Amino acid sequence: MLQPSRVLDRIVVLIAVAVISGAALANEDELARGAALLSPLKNDLKQALVAGLETGPVNAITVCRDQAPMIASALSVDGVEMGRSSHRLRNPANLAPDWVSAVLETYQANATDRTPQLVRLEDDRLGYIEPIMLQGMCVVCHGKVLAPEVVEQISESYPEDRATGFEVGDLRGVYWVEFPARQ
Ligand code: HEC
Repeated sequence: MLQPSRVLDRIVVLIAVAVISGAALANEDELARGAALLSPLKNDLKQALVAGLETGPVNAITVCRDQAPMIASALSVDGVEMGRSSHRLRNPANLAPDWVSAVLETYQANATDRTPQLVRLEDDRLGYIEPIMLQGMCVVCHGKVLAPEVVEQISESYPEDRATGFEVGDLRGVYWVEFPARQ
């Protein structure tokens, strides 16, 4: 027979475990919602980039310039807002909201942590954020050595560009999305 006080201890532990795993499950669900909301943004941007590159990088830069902001705003509806940002911006209009900069800084500070993050925001809103790593196909426009015509097109469209000099595997920036929490 357990002492009554030990029984109580166990009950307290069991309740704590149930509450914590309930919270973890809710987080899993919200993380999955954030990832799902971002998926059309990623697909549409990728499609625009690949289609643009078929006619060469200079044309692809204007395609990205004209389409990327439209793609993000077309998907930012019904209380959902999303975008891309970076610690080294090409387009200054992609400046991160404050909650995004805070997480971006943690990714910059810790090169081993690349897990998506969930942030509780005001007014029952949630923020989901995931890192963007540089891939092989990105170096044409974000790498260390660029073709002269690429440099020219970038500086014409983005006089304040800071988004070159990256290597494959580097943190290039983040995708972020804000959405209402489930009631
Ligand atoms: C053809 C040139 C080109 C290629 C290739 C390219 N980008 Fe970009 N990238 C751009 C342009 C132009 C912008 C600015 C778009 C805008 O105005 O929102 C941009 C913006 C971004 C941004 C938004 C933040 C910012 O700096 O404004 C991220 C993040 C980004 N690119 C990541 C990538 C990644 C990752 C790849 C590879 C999968 C890639 N890019 C490939 C041209 C390119």
